[in-house]
Amino acid sequence: MLEHLWYKNAVIYSLDLESFKDGNNDGVGDFEGLIERLDYLHALGVDTIWLAPFQPTPNKDNGYDISDYYGVDPRHGSSGDFVNFMHKARGLGIRVIIDLVVNHTSDQHLWFKEARASKDNPKRNWYVWSDHKPSNWNKGMVFPGVQKATWTKDPKTGSYYFHRFYDHMPDLNTDNPEVRDEILKIIGFWLQLGVSGFRMDAVPFVLESPKPDVDSTTLHYGYLKELRRFLQWRKGDAILLGEANVLPEETVNYFGEAGDGIHLMFNFFVNQHLFYALASTEIEPLQKALEATREINPTSQWAHFLRNHDELDLGRLTEEQRQRVFQEFGPEKNMQIYDRGIRRRLASMLGNRQQIELAYSLMFTLPGTPVIRYGDEIGMGDDLSLKEREAVRTPMQWSSEGQAGFSDSDKEVKPVISEGIYSYKQVNVKDQKRDPNSLFNWMAFMIRLRKECPEIGFGSWEIIPVKPKGILVMRYEFKEEILVFVHNFTAKGEELVLTTRQAKTQRLIDLINKVESIADEDGRHTIILNAYGYRWFRGGE
Ligand code: GLC
Repeated sequence: MLEHLWYKNAVIYSLDLESFKDGNNDGVGDFEGLIERLDYLHALGVDTIWLAPFQPTPNKDNGYDISDYYGVDPRHGSSGDFVNFMHKARGLGIRVIIDLVVNHTSDQHLWFKEARASKDNPKRNWYVWSDHKPSNWNKGMVFPGVQKATWTKDPKTGSYYFHRFYDHMPDLNTDNPEVRDEILKIIGFWLQLGVSGFRMDAVPFVLESPKPDVDSTTLHYGYLKELRRFLQWRKGDAILLGEANVLPEETVNYFGEAGDGIHLMFNFFVNQHLFYALASTEIEPLQKALEATREINPTSQWAHFLRNHDELDLGRLTEEQRQRVFQEFGPEKNMQIYDRGIRRRLASMLGNRQQIELAYSLMFTLPGTPVIRYGDEIGMGDDLSLKEREAVRTPMQWSSEGQAGFSDSDKEVKPVISEGIYSYKQVNVKDQKRDPNSLFNWMAFMIRLRKECPEIGFGSWEIIPVKPKGILVMRYEFKEEILVFVHNFTAKGEELVLTTRQAKTQRLIDLINKVESIADEDGRHTIILNAYGYRWFRGGE
């Protein structure tokens, strides 16, 4: 039974082929390169890879603009290379999930080319059209400041097509049964090739039915159940991991009351409050965010992350909170983006090892499944000279050799970070592997430890209120096993007292250091915390 819930104790690693490893030395990452690095991922301890879109694409939105759902972009290899990769990953016990980007296609997709050709083309209704200029043509942009409209005139027929994102990514009309059938076909195709599920892109927008002149739109949550049913008929333990940055009270619509919607969702709400806690040492909003997202069906699951391939979106914070995070982690205008976020990597935002460890330790102990972004395991930085979100998508830094060991090509297609303290000469896998104290080795240790704590994914949890400010204590319980995690967000050391009533255990065995605490006669555990310190304990009688 439990193995069907593999996602409850998985550690997911997100990567983009394009910037991971170039195997054929043409300057672009590919399946050949990724295959070479599977042992690395295995050694790191991750058991699930989330692959960013790799299908044929004009690549104007990092591959999220797909022009053919049933293939591999030739820059990354062939379908044969994909299958080879799947075979090797399976051999190492690594599952693969891929992006399902069906809110929109590229404007270069054959379907759109046909749809725009004439008003009576059979593909016309695969997209969303208006015969007049909608009054809301410039409302609801996802990329404000960069994107100018959501309805754009198509010169051929003079009608306007809807695009939630860039104008080169027209929205598919998911109300159309033919489109729905096609989406199932896409899911079925990749499942047949062995993937364990999908990271579903832009979920709320897939569910909407945009209409000209109408600002509000109803979301068809029932569609998620349809997708899940199909997915599970085809492959019992396959999952959907949804990208939906929504309010806590809306999440039940996505997971489904009976846990019959999507399996996992990124917890954007907690993510933003976590960054606020790191920036301010004020942890109450984070505690509230955790409580607000507590009630989900036992088979549903949150995915927790620190950074991803997009901006750090702070749109759910109050104005004051957002400004605080900007001030600490993205004070310059060039670090901010879309009026709501920060386009930097974790290491460069936090700037010091203790806080990076604190952030990751915390993320690993939040109720859900951790997702790690490639490069964060070695503390890679960003390149703010690149446009928009490209700043955080620079090539993986494998070594101090040319092009960071990412590629042996003479030409540099994707610029590597070669200046400053985050340059590949300073920050790379090869050096860190040989240094027992490196972030890489710390991360590999923590991933192993996390895998040994399935209570986090399966168990029930509570926040234990403690006196000193800025310290988060969480306690998990599952099948009589107890875990207690303590995180100090502040820059000063602290002595913390936990009673046996609070910890519900006489002994606290430290899982990271070789110490343990037995409660004193008054039933008190005294826990020493360093600045930004964290402790993982398992209970014992
Ligand atoms: C999601 C992706 C983002 C992409 C957008 C449009 O938000 O994470 O990278 O630009 O969808 O597909």
